[in-house]
Amino acid sequence: MEGRPAVDDAALEREALSVLEANWTGVATVPAPGLYPHQWSFDSSLIAMGLARRLPERAKTELLSLLDGQWATGMVPHIVFHTPEAYFPGPSVWRSQEQPDAPRGVLTSGLTAPPLHALAVWWLWRHSGDDGFVRRVFPALAAQHRYLATARDLGGAGLAAIVHPWESGMDDSPAWDGALAALPEIRYGYRTVGLDERHPGSDHDRYLWLALRYRDAGYRAEYLRDEHPFALEDPMFNGIWLASCVALAELAPVAGGDAAPYAEQAERLRAALLERLWDGCFHARDLRSGRTVEVCTVGAFGPLLDPQLPVDLVADLVETLESARFMGATGYPVPSCEIRAPQFDRTRYWRGPSWVSTNWLLRRAAVVHGLSQLAQVLTTATLRLVRQAGFRECFDPFDGSGRGCRDFSWSAALTLDLLADSVEA
Ligand code: GLC
Repeated sequence: MEGRPAVDDAALEREALSVLEANWTGVATVPAPGLYPHQWSFDSSLIAMGLARRLPERAKTELLSLLDGQWATGMVPHIVFHTPEAYFPGPSVWRSQEQPDAPRGVLTSGLTAPPLHALAVWWLWRHSGDDGFVRRVFPALAAQHRYLATARDLGGAGLAAIVHPWESGMDDSPAWDGALAALPEIRYGYRTVGLDERHPGSDHDRYLWLALRYRDAGYRAEYLRDEHPFALEDPMFNGIWLASCVALAELAPVAGGDAAPYAEQAERLRAALLERLWDGCFHARDLRSGRTVEVCTVGAFGPLLDPQLPVDLVADLVETLESARFMGATGYPVPSCEIRAPQFDRTRYWRGPSWVSTNWLLRRAAVVHGLSQLAQVLTTATLRLVRQAGFRECFDPFDGSGRGCRDFSWSAALTLDLLADSVEA
């Protein structure tokens, strides 16, 4: 696809569909050929939303195959391995088959990912009106939310903690630098083959060490609470969870359930986000150091996905988003780290580049709050990025050039959704 800029919308849509076709395994969409040859949870929920209007049946299959990997604890793993294709860290690292709570016959990782799934199911339901699908997946979504509210409330304040940078969906974000630097110096060397190619310059040994510690503790919730050295409350993860709670409250009656517990959960999350992570902007909180993380990243805008976020906070966040700290100074929205931070790097994953995923989520947030002009800017600029540079993994926020791998599925899938919107608008 690269190097053949699609000039008109029909050509761009055809190219997006052909990337998604090439990345489809029959049950799921791999994020990118070669580099990410399995099913990723965050990617699948974004891809399902992107497919909802164009290929709804495929979107449902995508979510169902991901949920095949759900553990008895309710945890939805961040990777499901459907094929023996080589990947590091693969099944021999995670050893899910040795865990009594892991599903039989499906190999998975032991970490989770941003809980966007209920929002994805709501999105599909809104566009396809398929009540049967909602009834089918509702119990799994409810179990996932119970897991987050219990096993992951490590701070005891109602927010879910991530226990590894890979759980954030924003792996190399500078928001995790301090927590990673506090870990012991680790040198596995040989074991990081594969990781280095994907994320040059990141702290792979510490990533791996954290994953192995959690695995060796049997993936136990008590270990996470009492001993695990990495635990952060992230505004993007919790903002996504809140949006999913709102979605479940709307879906519950369709599935014959009660909306109230999900609406109440959303309220608790809203209060905890404000109480613990807000100081004029949302910052992650490091539960091990007890401090909020100083650097402001695109994660700060996750709580904008909450339809009931107080209007003065919405105004403050949008002002920051549009200011020269973020999209006001770059040619292309939305840099993944504020550009005045010393950690900002326009070339490195999640430390500066713009992503179609976060642009799409912020566009959704803008729609939720009736900010049609912001929504329009995000749609147009994101479409310009993929039109000019192809369906790349991420983009230089200043000149729009492509970064990371090519033919990236969520960039293609969400383009389909943005195109559908620009036609409807
Ligand atoms: C990177 C991204 C993560 C994504 C994965 C697969 O690790 O940071 O969000 O899920 O790639 O695309």
